[in-house]
Amino acid sequence: MKILVIGGAGYIGSHVVKSLLSARHEVCVYDNLSTGCAQNLFSDAGFVQGDILDYPALLRAMKQNIDAVVFLAAKKAVGESMENPGKYANNNLIGAINTLNAMTEADVRKIIFSSSAAVYGLPEYLPVDEQHPTAPINFYGFTKLDMENYMNWYDRLKGIKFISLRYFNAVGYDEEGAVKGLEKNPQNLLPIIMEAACGIRKKVMIFGNDYDTRDGTCIRDYIHVSDLAAAHLKALEYLQKNNQSQIFNLGTENGVSVLEMILKAREITGKEIPYEFAGRRAGDPAVLLASAQKAQKLLGWSAVHSDLENIIDSTWKLYKPSAI
Ligand code: UFG
Repeated sequence: MKILVIGGAGYIGSHVVKSLLSARHEVCVYDNLSTGCAQNLFSDAGFVQGDILDYPALLRAMKQNIDAVVFLAAKKAVGESMENPGKYANNNLIGAINTLNAMTEADVRKIIFSSSAAVYGLPEYLPVDEQHPTAPINFYGFTKLDMENYMNWYDRLKGIKFISLRYFNAVGYDEEGAVKGLEKNPQNLLPIIMEAACGIRKKVMIFGNDYDTRDGTCIRDYIHVSDLAAAHLKALEYLQKNNQSQIFNLGTENGVSVLEMILKAREITGKEIPYEFAGRRAGDPAVLLASAQKAQKLLGWSAVHSDLENIIDSTWKLYKPSAI
């Protein structure tokens, strides 16, 4: 298939491109390189530098006999989405709706969409399955849920079939070292731990140690990006075979606490990684775990790269050269 990967120079996008190329799909990346980087581009894939807010450019890219779109071009910093909702509305909603309109105009009828566990809000039960009520508590999560609703309508009205992949906590790097770009200004736990290990930052602040969990710190379901990438391939195969829209959680069903992550990172990196306990961060649930049963059943997918050791080791390989 010929696939347009929108946001293919980003952290998750570049891993997705790698799996698509290894499955012998033809790939064209469309990316404005605002958060993604040129270092993440593969020479075997085509590249168009463009913005999803530039409709004519997007339409031109779509009119290259594209069979399916993989859409990962989103802003994803939860805190920033609460401070600057306009930026998130423009990019994650208007840009994504432009994509659906360009698909309609260019007669492209399949899309794999990056969604997030943030659509659920605070969990009412665990593990969270796809039937769990959706009630986002941040604007970022709202944009993802809203796009799922738009895609439902574009399916009904325009026959665009979609698979929405609700990622839990994406972590890790390609184990073969094929993806080289570090995320700029990371907001998430593991890159922050890595920066502390490198001496780029002094310490990790742990947001809350009084949760009702085994060590008092929050528990999350960390999923390796290579596992996420593999799920995109399976999702494409599913769409091709069944032509039916679906939503899937992507997680491991296993929880790791903030403290466990830091202690394991100390062991693997051999670095001190100082940490300090701070107050709870607003909107953080104590525990968030995915049920990935549906993806296992319908896609034949499950996480195979996501053990803690591998997650940290593959990330450290990339950060180690920056150690001070
Ligand atoms: N944490 C710290 N210190 C930090 C950063 C994070 O203690 O400096 C803690 C958080 O409080 C949380 C855990 O580490 O308990 C993981 O935090 P992240 O910011 O890495 O990830 P989140 O679970 O908050 O959010 C992630 C993605 C979102 C997505 C969400 C869905 O960043 O995009 O998962 O569950 F929406």
